[in-house]
Amino acid sequence: MQEPQQHQIWTLAARPQGMVKHTDFRLQSSPIPACRDGQILVRVHYVSIDPAMRGWVNEGTTYIKGVELGATMRAFAVGEVVESKHSKFVVGNFVSGMFGVQQYALSDGTGIEIVHAASADALPVFIGALGMPGMTAYWGLLDKGHVKEGETVLVSGAAGAVGSVVGQIANIKGCRTIGIAGGTEKCAYLTRELGFDAAIDYKAENLVEGIRRAAPGGVDVYFDNVGGDTLDAALANLARGARVVICGAISQYNNANESGEPAPPQGPKNYMKIVTARGVINGIIVLDYFDRASEFRSQIQEWISAGKLTTKEHIVHNIEQFPSALLMLFRGENFGKLILKVS
Ligand SMILES: NC(=O)c1ccc[n+]([C@@H]2O[C@H](COP(=O)([O-])OP(=O)(O)OC[C@H]3O[C@@H](n4cnc5c(N)ncnc54)[C@H](OP(=O)(O)O)[C@@H]3O)[C@@H](O)[C@H]2O)c1
Repeated sequence: MQEPQQHQIWTLAARPQGMVKHTDFRLQSSPIPACRDGQILVRVHYVSIDPAMRGWVNEGTTYIKGVELGATMRAFAVGEVVESKHSKFVVGNFVSGMFGVQQYALSDGTGIEIVHAASADALPVFIGALGMPGMTAYWGLLDKGHVKEGETVLVSGAAGAVGSVVGQIANIKGCRTIGIAGGTEKCAYLTRELGFDAAIDYKAENLVEGIRRAAPGGVDVYFDNVGGDTLDAALANLARGARVVICGAISQYNNANESGEPAPPQGPKNYMKIVTARGVINGIIVLDYFDRASEFRSQIQEWISAGKLTTKEHIVHNIEQFPSALLMLFRGENFGKLILKVS
C-alpha cells in the first residue's frame, strides 16, 4: 500500500477544567515524518483509550510527566511497521508502544514491543487483556493483592478493561468473585458470561449493604478502580487481614475546584477499618511491571486459549472520534476495553 503524504494527529489544546471537553483537544493534519537511521515508521491501527489520559493532560508530573500544550496526545497503541531503518524491526512487524493519538508514528524503538498477531484485525487484544490493562489486573491482583484460593475478591469497574480481567483471574485462582458495575446489562454480563459469583449495580443499590449481602464473611481482597464512595463502601466490609489494591479512582479524575484547577480525590473516610481489619493498602503502577511482560502475557494467552478467560473490546471507528471516545469512559458508555481505530 502506498503511504499517504499527510496524516491526522490529536494535540492537547487546553488544560481541561473539570470534565474533559472536545475543545481541550485539536485535530491537525501534518506531513508524515521521514524515517531516519535507527528509526521505524509505524502505521498506527488502534489507539488505547485510557482513564489515565485524564491525568496526563494535567500540568506537572505524577508518575509520568504531563502532556505539554500543543503536543501530540499520549496514548498506548498498536500498529504496523511500514518503514524500518532499525536493526530490530522489519517492515510488516506488528508493534505496540506509546505511539500517541495519531495515524503514523516515528520511533527509535525504545519501549516498542513486537506483537505476534496473525493479522491487523487481531491487534486490539494486545492493548486490552494482553496489553497494559491485562498486565495491571494480573500483577495488581497477584503481586499486590496476594490473592489465595478460597478468598473473597471484590473489584470495582468490574465490567471494564482492568476489572473484567481481575475478576476472571480471581475465578481461575479459586476465589469467590464479586463485581461492582453500573447497570443491569453490565452486571448480567459479569455473572452470566464472565463467571463472577455476584454483581452489584452501584447505580441501583446501596453499596455498603450490597457488598455485605454478597460477602457476608467480609472481603479479603478489594481491587479499587473507582475510589471515592465506592472505596469507602469496600473498606466498611473488609475481612481480617484484607488487602486493598489501589489501582485507580476514575470517579475522582475530573474533580476541580471553583477556579477549574484539578482538585484532589476524596480521601477514604473509613480508613480506620484498615486498622481493625489488620489490613494493608497497596498501590500499583503498571509501568513497574513492563520488564515482566512476557511472563504475564504467556499466562493470559494460555487462559484465553483454554477458554478460561474471555476478552471484550469496544471499538470506536475514526480518529475524529477521539474526544468523544475519551468521554465515554467517564460516562460508563464503554463495554469492555475501549479502543479507537485510527487507520
Ligand atoms: N495503576 C495503574 O497502573 C493503572 C493502569 C490501568 C488502569 N488503571 C486504572 O484502572 C481503572 C479502570 O481502567 P480501565 O482502563 O479498565 O477503564 P474501564 O473500566 O474499561 O472504563 C472505565 C469505567 O469506569 C466506570 N466509571 C466511570 N465513572 C465512574 C464513576 N464516577 N463511578 C463509578 N464508576 C465509574 C464506568 O463503568 P460503569 O459503567 O461500571 O460505571 C466506565 O466504563 C481506572 O481508574 C484507571 O485509571 C490504573
